[in-house]
Amino acid sequence: MSYSTLYLLLIVLFSCNCSSMSEPQEKEKEELTGRSGLPVESGAAGNQQSCLITGLYPLLAELSSTLQSLKASLEQEQFRRKEEHNVAFSASLGNRGDVGPFNTDVTLVYQNVFVNAGSHYNTGTGIFTAPVKGVYFFSLSGHNKTTKPMGLRLFKNGSQMTIIYNYALSDAGIRYETLSNSITLMLEKGDQVSVHLLANTWVFDNTDNLTLFTGHLVFPF
Ligand SMILES: *[C@@H]1O[C@H](CO)[C@@H](O)[C@H](O)[C@H]1NC(C)=O
Ligand SMILES: *[C@@H]1O[C@H](CO)[C@@H](O)[C@H](O)[C@H]1NC(C)=O
Ligand SMILES: *[C@@H]1O[C@H](CO)[C@@H](O)[C@H](O)[C@H]1NC(C)=O
Repeated sequence: MSYSTLYLLLIVLFSCNCSSMSEPQEKEKEELTGRSGLPVESGAAGNQQSCLITGLYPLLAELSSTLQSLKASLEQEQFRRKEEHNVAFSASLGNRGDVGPFNTDVTLVYQNVFVNAGSHYNTGTGIFTAPVKGVYFFSLSGHNKTTKPMGLRLFKNGSQMTIIYNYALSDAGIRYETLSNSITLMLEKGDQVSVHLLANTWVFDNTDNLTLFTGHLVFPF
């Protein structure tokens, strides 16, 4: 409903109960006819009506400015929430072939980014940082040969939350496998989530996007 419609409604509602108000100033009359769309009639009935309108005008003007500032702060809040709550990323390792082995754990940097809404996944470090407290969903996958060990550990700050792991089986023959896992976590604002390649293991990716890391904010808490 527009403000002018609201004015009109209020005027119609209130004019029945008002009877003793002063004559409107010329300037106010003009503004009133302009804003409400009601003509300022002449004669007794008209005088009474325009007097009623004049009495209500400061009230309506105040109401209007209150509504307008309320609307502005609501829009601001909606924008802030949208910025804060639209959080999702997904990326694959990229066309790099074998990654590993290293003699210690390393944080994997998934370089082929599909989406990074809000840019909370750092494409330089591979670390996701929670922008708000909330419930978050993560999934990870990894691909390689059964003859090579593969270990991917999902960390929240300093603690392992889940792992996907395959053993090297020397008699397994050359088969390929893709492991995956997913987890939903409660994160505090500023918590960091990343995937580490377990020491002395391999992981692989090419243009097929076999090895992924994905995270979404499900809802803020
Ligand atoms: C990992 O798997 C790919 C095939 O998807 C293979 O080309 C690569 O040699 C494997 N890496 C290791 C270390 O076995
Ligand atoms: C998690 O680690 C980050 C970065 O070191 C830190 O800012 C944050 O406070 C930590 N969260 C908790 C709950 O300790
Ligand atoms: C891998 O991701 C890229 C986008 O980054 C896409 O163009 C390509 O088709 C994907 N490859 C496969 C095999 O899905």
